[in-house]
Amino acid sequence: MTAACTIREARTSDLDALVELLGMLFSLEADFAVDARRQRDGLLQMLEGAKNRLVLVADTAGVVVGMATAQVVVSTAEGGPSLLVEDVVVRPESRGLGIGRALLTRIEAWGTRLGATRLQLLADRDNAPSHDFYRACGFMPTNLVCLRRTLP
Ligand SMILES: CC(C)(COP(=O)(O)OP(=O)(O)OC[C@H]1O[C@@H](n2cnc3c(N)ncnc32)[C@H](O)[C@@H]1OP(=O)(O)O)[C@@H](O)C(=O)NCCC(=O)NCCS
Repeated sequence: MTAACTIREARTSDLDALVELLGMLFSLEADFAVDARRQRDGLLQMLEGAKNRLVLVADTAGVVVGMATAQVVVSTAEGGPSLLVEDVVVRPESRGLGIGRALLTRIEAWGTRLGATRLQLLADRDNAPSHDFYRACGFMPTNLVCLRRTLP
């Protein structure tokens, strides 16, 4: 990662840039729809200051070039806290510089401080580059499938 880029916690003033980044991410993933209002609402809830949620941005000279979020869940399998990692995306012109890895490393440090023993995430089946990225960052595939049901 270049020295000019820093990883920091997001602020409400980053919201427009974060919504744009989520738009890029969700336009790649068949299971999600780009909806700026929903993405803004979700981010606002994430930014409310709860100690079990983290929104990180990669900031290059005041420009938000990447983001990632994490939330703590209690895992009965682990017998303690575990992290759900989501919303990992870097602007196209800033990819390949180590920013994605730096975001995950910061999440890992945060989770470790909270006693988490596992990071878990979902990746689109067809997004092979993201699988390579996560493998390079130490994530291993599982035998789980993701099922979901929408509530009215
Ligand atoms: C996936 C993504 C977040 C990676 O971010 P990035 O900043 O470019 O990744 P980094 O530069 O930190 O790369 C870290 C490692 O992953 C590898 N990697 C990154 N992108 C890769 C790709 N497209 N293909 C193969 N390997 C890749 C790098 O080679 C590097 O490995 P190394 O350190 O051993 O050399 C970025 O490409 C992106 O935003 N993609 C679109 C959104 C997306 O798919 N997000 C994941 C949703 S599940």
